[in-house]
Amino acid sequence: MIDDALARAVSVIRAARAITVLTGAGVSAASGVPTFRGDDGLWKKQRAESLATPEAFEQDPRLVWEWYDWRRRMIRDARPNPAHDVLARWTRELKTTLITQNVDGLHERAGAERLVRLHGSIWHVRCWRRCVTGEADWLDETVPLATLPPHCPHCGSFVRPGVVWFGEPLDPAVLDRARAAAADCDVFLTVGTSAVVYPAAGLIPEAKGAGATVIEINPDATPASSSADVVIRRPAAEALTELDGALSS
Ligand code: OAD
Repeated sequence: MIDDALARAVSVIRAARAITVLTGAGVSAASGVPTFRGDDGLWKKQRAESLATPEAFEQDPRLVWEWYDWRRRMIRDARPNPAHDVLARWTRELKTTLITQNVDGLHERAGAERLVRLHGSIWHVRCWRRCVTGEADWLDETVPLATLPPHCPHCGSFVRPGVVWFGEPLDPAVLDRARAAAADCDVFLTVGTSAVVYPAAGLIPEAKGAGATVIEINPDATPASSSADVVIRRPAAEALTELDGALSS
């Protein structure tokens, strides 16, 4: 027996022509990756907002890189969980576009296609000074990094993580793709995000305003809850597994 919220979600997803999903750190919680705003999200009593900024890097690049190196070690040992697996399959089989705020690469490792990475990737780096040859992101999956902070092989300046920091704009082309997917779907799922960081959180009202049915999957209430049409108050892996099972039965 599935509950009313799940049954409603199944019926709108079945009827949908296009589905867009926005994910946040809660999707990776079952893989052992701490969320940012949960009790376990702090590192050395530092909040993400105080480390994930260009100013913090300018002031103490080693401290910022210690935090990223710690997260990279944790993420390397993590595995995609059933929430990643279900969403990856939906991108291949259910006309689903997946927009993620996560930088951990677990959606990719689960095989997701049609993926929009709003905040970049923790596995990419680029030259802090944006030197001519080091300007574009490159992949560096070394864990742990040999030196903190690492140095640009082209100009010798520091290298920074290839992620979007607070106070930095998102890549306009990436944001356009996300906005288009939010505006052009019948069902918009927001899964495992506190919906407080913009412009990502703004995709929820944009989808709703364009006529989508909004479904929230999150064990806790968020600022998006009151405008969601369907609220599933459960962990992502559990809810998505059940939803997926009901869709294919
Ligand atoms: P947050 O840490 O702000 O929120 C995580 C959300 O996941 C919370 O609403 C939790 O209730 C929920 N949650 C926890 N466990 C869950 C589970 N098992 N299943 C489903 N949901 C669960 O993370 P984000 O919303 O991703 O940005 O944060 C947004 C951005 O702020 C991040 O991308 C990052 C951060 O600072 C940058 O670094 C730019």
